[in-house]
Amino acid sequence: MDHFELRNGELHAEDVSLAAIARDVGTPVYVYSRATLTRHAKVFREALSALPKVHIAFAVKSNPNLAVLRLLASQGYGADVVSEGEMNRALAAGIPAEDVVFSGVGKTHAELTAAVRAGIGQFNLESEEEGVELAEIAASLGKTATCALRVNPNVDAKTHAKISTGKAENKFGVAYDLAADIYERLSALPGLHMRGLAVHIGSQISDLEPSRQAFGKMGVLMAAIRERGLSVTHMDLGGGLGVPYKAGEQLPTPADYGAMVAEATKGWDVTLMFEPGRVITGNSGVLVTEVVRVKQGVGHPWVVVDAAMNDLARPAMYDAWHDFAAVKPTGETMVANIVGPICESSDTFAMAREIDAVKAGDLAAFRTAGAYGATMANTYNSRALVPEVMVDGDRWAVVANRIEPAAILAAEQVPEWLD
Ligand code: LLP
Repeated sequence: MDHFELRNGELHAEDVSLAAIARDVGTPVYVYSRATLTRHAKVFREALSALPKVHIAFAVKSNPNLAVLRLLASQGYGADVVSEGEMNRALAAGIPAEDVVFSGVGKTHAELTAAVRAGIGQFNLESEEEGVELAEIAASLGKTATCALRVNPNVDAKTHAKISTGKAENKFGVAYDLAADIYERLSALPGLHMRGLAVHIGSQISDLEPSRQAFGKMGVLMAAIRERGLSVTHMDLGGGLGVPYKAGEQLPTPADYGAMVAEATKGWDVTLMFEPGRVITGNSGVLVTEVVRVKQGVGHPWVVVDAAMNDLARPAMYDAWHDFAAVKPTGETMVANIVGPICESSDTFAMAREIDAVKAGDLAAFRTAGAYGATMANTYNSRALVPEVMVDGDRWAVVANRIEPAAILAAEQVPEWLD
């Protein structure tokens, strides 16, 4: 459920007309709904309420906007970060360092050092090598780094190959069969406090069975590690729950997910940790765009919009579907290809799709763009970095400015020896 609805024939974010925002801020622009974000944060937490001990760390990568992080901080969410930049955002938003989980396969020496200094709550180690390096850093600073070991369970999440992370051929985690030995060796290192295991098999997961299977394997591994006399008090089950991208699409709900987790983790006696991203932010945002022109083609007409793959990369990268809705629908429809202005054919949002009829100058919204939208934007073709707005009832604010191409140009220089 979200708060982007037609009112008096016009698409609104809560009580604010998207046309009013577009008029003031220009297009393309991301618009987030505070009420939707808050609702999703609550629904996800409630879905886990039957579990004994729970820690939820929002996956910052899905939407790192400072205002979004502040809102989730106020909902009691921690943060799952994958870079020093994300860590600093989470801390700047007021998320306590002890509620931050540092994930990622390539944390640098500098990042590990900064995170130890900041007192980050948990490092999810992706290799024995990383653990050894972290132990040295922590010991040299006279500190202890609290860690979980990320395990690759070799389970196919049955999602898009580019966002699948839990198969043996993926770069993430340590091999399942080696995990107990690595855990034991890392547990012996001064500077580290090994307290648990972590798993994350992929994103936009639409079938709960692979997760159930992966969690089952983690339970077996946990028991084997405990049998060695080692302690496991925390199990991080990652993120990954998918969201509907097409009107009417049915996916497992947070409640379905919570019930599956309760069943799969029965009797574990641990704090369960979660790293949801998309399920919180996905349906909380839209990308508002203006139709530049409608160009006749040999087949369907080309609806050329002023948003492009640099603003919303998901269709180009993962063939992802984003519903497209006119801000002032006429009731008429058309079958069209929707494309951006960038000079490559991957800048395509949809082909041969039945959409609200639009013409040059009309506004439209790509829906379910709150996760992996603005955060993956870039300035390809020397376009602006897309701005972001948050709506709260009948008020709204720009929460990230448009970065104009002139500002990016101003950060470049020509060395004098070129002339
Ligand atoms: N935890 C870890 C270790 C992750 O790698 C991810 C996402 C998450 C949590 C959050 O997953 P979520 O709940 O959002 O599914 N750019 C892609 C998605 C990449 C996901 C990367 N990892 C997309 O636009 O679909």
